[in-house]
Amino acid sequence: MIAALLLVPLAHTATVLIPKTVFDSTSNFEQYFTYNYPWGGTTHNGGARMDRAHVAISNSTLTITAQPVKGQPSATHGGKQIAINYLSGAVGAKQHFTVPKGGGFVFSGSFQATTTKGTWPAFWLTAVNGWPPEIDMAEWKGSGKISFNTFNTSSVLSWKDVTYSNPSQYHAIKCELKDVNGKDTQAKFWMDGALQATHVGKDYTGKPFYLVINLQMEGSSGSPGPTVNTTYSVRDLEVTTL
Ligand SMILES: *[C@@H]1O[C@H](CO)[C@@H](O)[C@H](O)[C@H]1NC(C)=O
Ligand SMILES: *[C@@H]1O[C@H](CO)[C@@H](O)[C@H](O)[C@H]1NC(C)=O
Ligand SMILES: *[C@@H]1O[C@H](CO)[C@@H](O)[C@H](O)[C@H]1NC(C)=O
Repeated sequence: MIAALLLVPLAHTATVLIPKTVFDSTSNFEQYFTYNYPWGGTTHNGGARMDRAHVAISNSTLTITAQPVKGQPSATHGGKQIAINYLSGAVGAKQHFTVPKGGGFVFSGSFQATTTKGTWPAFWLTAVNGWPPEIDMAEWKGSGKISFNTFNTSSVLSWKDVTYSNPSQYHAIKCELKDVNGKDTQAKFWMDGALQATHVGKDYTGKPFYLVINLQMEGSSGSPGPTVNTTYSVRDLEVTTL
C-alpha cells in the first residue's frame, strides 16, 4: 500500500503571490502594492520625483504618467545633485521575494513602454538589504532597446540589450528565477514568448528582493527628456512560485 502511494508523482502546483486581477481596481492594487519606492522616498537616480497622483489604475491596467515640471527642488543620489524635471510614479510590491533553496519565482506581465531619449521605464528587482542583488527584468533606457541585467557587483554584470520594436504596442515580458546550487540564482528573460537571455546572480538565493515598477526619467536614458507627458502601462501582471 505504501509502495503504491510512493509511485504516485507529487503534483507540483505554483502558488500565486500576485494575481492577474491585481490591476482590476485600486483596492486590489493597494492590497499588493505601495506608492513610491518600496524602501521609502520619492526620488532615486534620475530626473523624476514620484507621487501617487501620477499612478492610475483603470481598465485592468496600471498607468504611470511622467509630466514635465519646473521649479522642483533637486534630488540627491550618490552624493550628487540631480535636477528634477518631471513628476512621475513608482510602485513597489508590499511583499518581498526571496528565492529559496530549490525553488524560484515567475514574474510576468504585458508592458507598453517608451524608448524615447530621457524616458526610463523599468520592471525590476533589487536587494532589500545592501546591494546587489539587482535583476532588471526589463528596462528601457531611451535608445530604442530593451535591457535585461543581473549584477554580481556594480562592474561585474550580465546584460543583454535587444532592439525593441513597436513601443506603442504591449509586449509580454517574463522572468523566471530559480535557485541553481543553494547559493546562486538563475534568471531567464523572455520577451513576446522568446527567450532573450539566461544569467546567474552570485549568492542571490536566500536574499530578499523588492519588486519595483517605475517610470524614471533622464539619468541613464539621457537628457533632455520629452517636453510632453510620457506614459508607461502594465497589465496582466502576475507573480507565482516556480
Ligand atoms: C481596455 O483594455 C483592453 C485590453 O485588455 C483593450 O483592448 C481596450 O482597448 C482598453 N480600453 C481602453 C478604453 O483603453
Ligand atoms: C556571476 O556569478 C555567477 C556565480 O558565480 C556566475 O555564474 C556568473 O557567470 C557571474 N556573472 C558574471 C557576469 O561574471
Ligand atoms: C499630463 O499629465 C498630468 C498628470 O497625469 C495631467 O494632469 C495632465 O492633464 C496631462 N497633460 C496632458 C497635456 O495630457
